[in-house]
Amino acid sequence: MTDRLKGKVAIVTGAGSGIGRRTAELFAAEGAKVACADVVGEAANETAKAIGATAIGCRVDVSVPGDVEQMVADAFAKFGAVDVLYANAGVGGKGNAMVMSLEEWNRMIAINLTGVWLSCKYALPHMVKQGRGSLILQSSVRGLVGIPALPHYSAAKAGVIGLTRQIAVEYGPKGVRCNAIAPGTIMTPLVEGVWRAGGGIVGAGGSFEEMKARAAAPHPLGRIGTTDDCANLALFLASDESAWITGVTVPLDGGLTAG
Ligand SMILES: NC(=O)c1ccc[n+]([C@@H]2O[C@H](COP(=O)([O-])OP(=O)(O)OC[C@H]3O[C@@H](n4cnc5c(N)ncnc54)[C@H](O)[C@@H]3O)[C@@H](O)[C@H]2O)c1
Repeated sequence: MTDRLKGKVAIVTGAGSGIGRRTAELFAAEGAKVACADVVGEAANETAKAIGATAIGCRVDVSVPGDVEQMVADAFAKFGAVDVLYANAGVGGKGNAMVMSLEEWNRMIAINLTGVWLSCKYALPHMVKQGRGSLILQSSVRGLVGIPALPHYSAAKAGVIGLTRQIAVEYGPKGVRCNAIAPGTIMTPLVEGVWRAGGGIVGAGGSFEEMKARAAAPHPLGRIGTTDDCANLALFLASDESAWITGVTVPLDGGLTAG
């Protein structure tokens, strides 16, 4: 522990699993007080319990404005500030532009794009009032480059990149930074679910280890990412070490989008 977030209050959405859970743990280990939020309330509470007294669990559906407003209010009531928001909650999916239903499209946009905006909407007033804050929005390499399958996911994640730039420009003068993370494949339950449903680019065939090897192949660094890779970048963007960085989307992809 090096106290890189000492004195800061952070909200992490999607903290019940995968990237969000690991990041909430790391933020807390670096001195932050953390509101761990997830649509699965028990999972949010589990993460908070594992962290201890410096965390609370919140049940939130990020696509529901009242839930998100309450999440931010709870974090502020408990810890007295909102310094960092990691708008990480999201879902995977499957399908292509010809066969996907409108319901699938709308659900994806509601969670992976509207949910990110709603999280910013309710965190921003606190940050503007404080004159400081770091928003970290979860995008994907699918928001940067075209990759087969999941058109709704790609559209939502590209929307997050546009939102990041817009908020950075509008709220930079008020002391609020806004950056996005665009991960390549990170091994989490979300990715495993997409693979097992045959929804990603790796295809459903073969053993899990074979799917993993196929997923690693296009990454020049020769492996897929870990939740630690993502949490470490989120930590940097949350901390004052990135004080002069705003409006950027950082590919976290082992070189996937460099080619
Ligand atoms: N894993 C990857 O390869 C990868 C790559 C690029 C981007 N991402 C993004 O990273 C984020 C986290 O993904 P992960 O891989 O850790 O997945 P995950 O499934 O392990 O975790 C996602 C969490 O978000 C929660 N969640 C889902 N819908 C929600 C809602 N409406 N409100 C609140 N919480 C909700 C889930 O319950 C879950 O706990 C997502 O936005 C995902 O799109 C992941």
